[in-house]
Amino acid sequence: MLLQLKTCVVRSWETSDVESLTRYANNHKIWLNLRDAFPHPYTRQHAREFIRATRQRTPETTFAIAANDEAIGSIGYVLHPDVERVSAEIGYWLAEPFWGRGITTEALRAVTEHAIASHGFTRVYALPFSWNTASCRVLEKAGYVLEARLRRSAIKNGAVTDQMQYAFIAPE
Ligand SMILES: CC(C)(COP(=O)(O)OP(=O)(O)OC[C@H]1O[C@@H](n2cnc3c(N)ncnc32)[C@H](O)[C@@H]1OP(=O)(O)O)[C@@H](O)C(=O)NCCC(=O)NCCS
Repeated sequence: MLLQLKTCVVRSWETSDVESLTRYANNHKIWLNLRDAFPHPYTRQHAREFIRATRQRTPETTFAIAANDEAIGSIGYVLHPDVERVSAEIGYWLAEPFWGRGITTEALRAVTEHAIASHGFTRVYALPFSWNTASCRVLEKAGYVLEARLRRSAIKNGAVTDQMQYAFIAPE
């Protein structure tokens, strides 16, 4: 998979991305905004396992965000079974040196469109923690709409928090 965008490329994860993935993912500020399944500290072994698992999965649902031939982030969606098979949850992170350049917004727009076209989803949604104003802004810029505030629905870093439910509804 390869999406050539203005600010970045969204592409399949490559085995050679281990070094850049380890360097950029090993960041407490990133971990603080993701599920606990995302490890911290983030080691080369975590990077190797993540890339192997991602490359083995069919269909491919998790992609590298790359710039200057280097992986600088990740974006992917989770497929749901049974009656919720028409919807998917999307998640993403970007390496801190590249924040604030519109890269994630562009990648999110493109991957949302790609996911809808590939799987026929009616809905793609995300659940940022309520403190994550940057991610809420990214979702709004990419056309997602705030549907709900899920009060006290998660615990991160020892703190119970609300999650903001944003959704992109595919045109009928
Ligand atoms: C959230 C994240 C992906 C944003 O990536 P990015 O490439 O910097 O995003 P963009 O540059 O496309 O847009 C960021 C927007 O948030 C705004 N923003 C950034 N920090 C902010 C803050 N503290 N308060 C309010 N707005 C903020 C920026 O000004 C920008 O909006 P603008 O274009 O209207 O000025 C990145 O910060 C990150 O990886 N964070 C850690 C992991 C994470 O939160 N993942 C999402 C989990 S739901």
